[in-house]
Amino acid sequence: MEGLLHERIINGREAARRVRAEVASEVARLGAQGVVPQVAFVRVGDDPASAIYVNAKARACAEVGVRSSHLHLAASSSEAEVRRTLEALAADEDVDGILLQLPLPSGIPDLQLLNAIPPEKDVDGFHTLNLGAVVAGRGPLEPCTPAGIMRLIGMLGVEVRGKEAVVIGRSVVVGRMMASMLLRADATIAVCHRHTAALREHVARAEVLVVAAGVPGLVPGAWVREGAWVFDVGSTRMPDGRISGDVEFAAARERVAGITPVPGGIGPMTIAQLLVNTVTAAQLRRGLVPFVIKRA
Ligand code: GUN
Repeated sequence: MEGLLHERIINGREAARRVRAEVASEVARLGAQGVVPQVAFVRVGDDPASAIYVNAKARACAEVGVRSSHLHLAASSSEAEVRRTLEALAADEDVDGILLQLPLPSGIPDLQLLNAIPPEKDVDGFHTLNLGAVVAGRGPLEPCTPAGIMRLIGMLGVEVRGKEAVVIGRSVVVGRMMASMLLRADATIAVCHRHTAALREHVARAEVLVVAAGVPGLVPGAWVREGAWVFDVGSTRMPDGRISGDVEFAAARERVAGITPVPGGIGPMTIAQLLVNTVTAAQLRRGLVPFVIKRA
């Protein structure tokens, strides 16, 4: 955990930089064998945040030597048009990974389209088979945000076995997967959501707290258990332009063992994990042994 924690603030940017460095050396090794991993980003419509996210992902790819392409479809596209684009990428031998950026314009259902991406090219880990694999044991391509948090927990040397872990938010791709991964690591889990009656009592028990509700300031710092590890997935743009997490950071920081800031915490780890998944997909598709990043 050397250099990842400073005055109880977890440096997600530095952790992600270390992961990217490992990915870059693996990409260089593959390059010597004539393999260049390639990912295709598909964006539908003009959601401004999505444009920023996809550009950030493309930059991260370029930095480690992963090739990326960006297909931008009009907001007026039909479900069938998006599906045809995904099917063409699925059939393209040169494409290792496909990422359909969410949210889609209203009226286009995302579940069927996410499942139109072949599981072996699903670098987001959002295909139903890849989600199920997390619960069943371990999948080759797991959703990037919870996988990135587990990697960060490992890098920090936080022992979760036997600990009380609380996840706030039950989204299919973050909250539920996070709970499964923490359970796999032998923590005792509570998953809280909008109908949870006594949120404060759950938070007060949490030795590991993951908040992924998308509600700025949902968790007041005073609720947080002394010595807890707090991972804040929230990222909401406020009217003044700043990005806010779900945890009241300044007050929580006084109580915790460590807390991820927003921005600069979980976001960079999510993107780093996408790079890991892309290289893993490229290796698995070619029958190569997928690389494993050593704990820093
Ligand atoms: N929209 C917000 N976060 C994500 C993500 O991790 N993957 C995709 N595909 N869309 C997103």
